[in-house]
Amino acid sequence: MKSAFRAPSNIALVKYWGKYGVQLPSKPSISFTLDSCATETTVELTDRPGISVELDGEDTPGFVPKIAQFVERIAPRHPWIGDYGIRVQTHNTFPHSSGIASSASGMSALALCVVDLAQKLGHAVGDPKQEASILARLGSGSACRSLYGGLVVWGETPSVPGSAQEFGTPYPHKLNEVFRSYRDVVALVDVGQKAVSSTAGHQLMERHPFRTQRFAQAHDHLAALGPILASGDLDAFMELVELEALTLHGLMMSSSPSYILMRPQTLRIIEAIRGFRLESGIPICFTLDAGANVHILFPEQAEQSAMEFVIDHVQPWCKDGRMIADRVGQGPVPLHE
Ligand code: PMV
Repeated sequence: MKSAFRAPSNIALVKYWGKYGVQLPSKPSISFTLDSCATETTVELTDRPGISVELDGEDTPGFVPKIAQFVERIAPRHPWIGDYGIRVQTHNTFPHSSGIASSASGMSALALCVVDLAQKLGHAVGDPKQEASILARLGSGSACRSLYGGLVVWGETPSVPGSAQEFGTPYPHKLNEVFRSYRDVVALVDVGQKAVSSTAGHQLMERHPFRTQRFAQAHDHLAALGPILASGDLDAFMELVELEALTLHGLMMSSSPSYILMRPQTLRIIEAIRGFRLESGIPICFTLDAGANVHILFPEQAEQSAMEFVIDHVQPWCKDGRMIADRVGQGPVPLHE
């Protein structure tokens, strides 16, 4: 029995940083679901026990411990899974060594396959998307936001009714049209292994001196985004999104021990974006995830001038000139095996 899904990555506007229990967020976050940065995964249940993983058709034993941990974490909700062997075939649509986290797209594709297989076997799963979001979260926190298109919230917060700690929910409030087709060009600065993993970074928040203020700030930022997303106030949007990105890296720099994931090229790109915005009035801004790469965000309407700027003034700072042009996407889709 087989199941196959394509699931996208996502980029947070208000960042998840800090967790407790089994992958529960210390505060709320919201992200744009992406489109081209995605993972395509087939899961096959076999009679032979054990887990095998093929990446791009090649046996990849290095991925087995991660999948084994995922299976162990979801087993209390899906005890049937222990009766089978699992063969995972997976492929990322973005380059493997790009430094783009494949865990969000990878874990959400995997979770969708598991929920689909549970249904095919006749097990009750409740709301299948919500169940897949819960399973994806157990694999990698931010993955639980990749189950829906557009904007997705994770973490209970008063300004977003229906928001929950255990799963992501589609942003329920009014959304200005400009945000439905927003662009994200990912400038690839550093494509190697990160010096400090996200897991270690989340852990450092447990005894971070600014944790209380930061957790309160995330709730405030979610609430402040409401009117911005409804009205399409791009100046306020850009200010908040950049503040969130720099706060995330500020938290890393003020952790104990402190660390820096940005590279000199990251700062060059940030300066170029801010300089160009000031001089041209084009609404272009940046955000960062837990790495050196820069996500460059702008509305579809600004695409031509923004891309000219990016090619002339950002690409030279990218590793081997590498960039990925993406946009807000529609969410996961089933694939025909
Ligand atoms: O899902 P994790 O544990 O890889 O954490 C990722 C957290 C950030 O990407 C930095 C922020 C976010 O909300 O996605």
